[in-house]
Amino acid sequence: MARSRIATLVREKDEMARTAWEALAERPPSHASAQALEPEVLAETARALQLIEQEQRAPGVMATVQDPYACLLQTHLAKFGAASPMPGARTLEVKFDEHDALRWAASAVFTWWKRITRFQWTDPVTLASPFPNKARVAVFGDWATGLYGAPEVSRSIAGERAGYQLVLHLGDTYYSGDRDEVDEGLIQPWPRAAGALHRALNGNHEMYTGGEAYFEAVGREFGQHSTYFALQNDHWILAGLDTAYSDHALHGAQAQWIGTLLAQAGGRRLVLFSHHQPFSLLEGQGPRLVAKLAPFLKDRRIFAWYWGHEHRCAIYDAHPAWGLLGRCVGHGGFPYFRDKLPGAGGGATAFLRVDTRRGVPGAHILDGPNPFIAGHESRYGPHGYASLEFDGPRLNEVIRSATGEVLRAAQLA
Ligand SMILES: [Fe+2]
Repeated sequence: MARSRIATLVREKDEMARTAWEALAERPPSHASAQALEPEVLAETARALQLIEQEQRAPGVMATVQDPYACLLQTHLAKFGAASPMPGARTLEVKFDEHDALRWAASAVFTWWKRITRFQWTDPVTLASPFPNKARVAVFGDWATGLYGAPEVSRSIAGERAGYQLVLHLGDTYYSGDRDEVDEGLIQPWPRAAGALHRALNGNHEMYTGGEAYFEAVGREFGQHSTYFALQNDHWILAGLDTAYSDHALHGAQAQWIGTLLAQAGGRRLVLFSHHQPFSLLEGQGPRLVAKLAPFLKDRRIFAWYWGHEHRCAIYDAHPAWGLLGRCVGHGGFPYFRDKLPGAGGGATAFLRVDTRRGVPGAHILDGPNPFIAGHESRYGPHGYASLEFDGPRLNEVIRSATGEVLRAAQLA
């Protein structure tokens, strides 16, 4: 039986009034082999189940939380859940009343969780690798579900006639980037554009398993042996940051490395790529990223910054103090609810205006239905990606739908 990709928690009717804690704790294991759980395991599992259940608003559609234990539990349930997937479906419904299965999962996942270690931190061998002056870059984030718009994004990038010189994922392989998820969500469906350099940043989800499967896979498949790196041509420096090894922060000497890149930049402009956001109009801010890069931001040395993590597409105005052009392109393949913005929710795909607030620049935010989330098309926002076209000192930015349709094009330089 092929394993499923999604674990959806479903409560039986008689469980509706109970909390996950009660459901697990009240009934003793009925199976002779089922072990009683340690209170710590029980509490942690009940907490994780509640988190998952709160986030899961549409039955059968992938949902997740930013919680390591909950994500490991999702990975485990998707793989080893007790209930059989519906025939032909990729969704597994793990019923709350299957206490023995949950106990078994909790016990296994708790042990797994306690043993997780992060991959060996590795600095890049070269300061910056050469990059053609005329080059096209495909950028997509939060894509590695293997589902919904993700295969379309992949087909569109791989099939682009003009080709790409760099294919770059901004991180997050769901639920927790274990070996199977990296293989099925990141590596197998990866857009193998001919002749391109392939790079994948790590996100918080890969790091829930310590990032080992991800790091091993990008080394083997892409020849990528560090999680931060730079490319440069005569006019531009493209730098990928690791903001996940230390969550939403810059681990190691990355800030100094950016300083070194800028010191030798000459007239080159710097474009950053990361999983996490430095700022946001609609979610949390990235104060630790901003603090580490403050001197370069204040000196207006960062031209543009592309990030994911937030599941939406947001095109920010130039930052009033730092000059940088911020872009969130975390709408690569994970199902996300459409933002409740004035004018949102209709049948058309459009960029909606959100004004500046609390020092965060205003933005145009993509709204529209998602044709790849069957049965829930109008509730979820569209998937897609960005194409960056470098030509000497010029940079053209194209925001595309999952199938490659141009939604917005602008010359940034
Ligand atoms: Fe993320």
